[in-house]
Amino acid sequence: MQKLEQLYEGKAKKVFKTDDPDVLIVDYKDDATAFNGEKKGTIVGKGVINNKMSNRVHQLLEEKGVPTHYIQELSDRETAVKKVEIVPVEVIIRNVAAGSFSKRLGVPEGTPFEQPTVEFSYKNDELGDPLINDYFAVALKLATWDEIKTIQDYAFKVNDVLKEYFLQAGIKLIDFKIEFGRYHGQIILADEISPDTCRLWDVNTNEKLDKDRFRRDLGNVEEAYNEVFKRLGL
Ligand code: C5P
Repeated sequence: MQKLEQLYEGKAKKVFKTDDPDVLIVDYKDDATAFNGEKKGTIVGKGVINNKMSNRVHQLLEEKGVPTHYIQELSDRETAVKKVEIVPVEVIIRNVAAGSFSKRLGVPEGTPFEQPTVEFSYKNDELGDPLINDYFAVALKLATWDEIKTIQDYAFKVNDVLKEYFLQAGIKLIDFKIEFGRYHGQIILADEISPDTCRLWDVNTNEKLDKDRFRRDLGNVEEAYNEVFKRLGL
């Protein structure tokens, strides 16, 4: 497979065309942004960690019956993925109150839920990714009812698989964001799953091992990413 011209450069990744119209190459950067691009920085080594962690997680999910865009890891920072049409809906699953949930609803961070929650937001930088529901997604023609149902079922399955995967590494999965795409008419999991997109807390101390260390200026950002990498044996 041949890497061709750059298609797109995002906040944390570059995406390249290949000589196969169904395949793209993702190149993970160390750049970090938060608050819709208002805060910018670098987390040294993040690109390698996010690439390898995301690939391991995607392989595990495939084994458990969730189809993903993963094809092959090409280098420390580069991975071949299926070219999808992204569904512009961010799907967030929460097991414990934190972040925007705690802020919006006045629930202290760390309050566990009896059942996980699901929420959707419209992936639109200009509007600041506003919260929507399934009816909004259909009204805005972002997805069909069938697609929304599939997406929600996969999202809860991802949660079940990941909760167990992290727990055996002494990590609590507090919440995470995922995205899906259409590949030859099928809904598949696309985009990364990494400490950038998950809240990961140490199971004993509740120490934050994720991007909140960057967002909230907590220090030891690289150390946290490295700790997750090490604990997962990547
Ligand atoms: O900020 P909030 O509490 O809504 O974030 C929930 C989860 O979704 C967190 O794990 C966060 O890292 C992730 N997220 C993300 N990208 C966004 C918004 C949230 O990865 N644009």
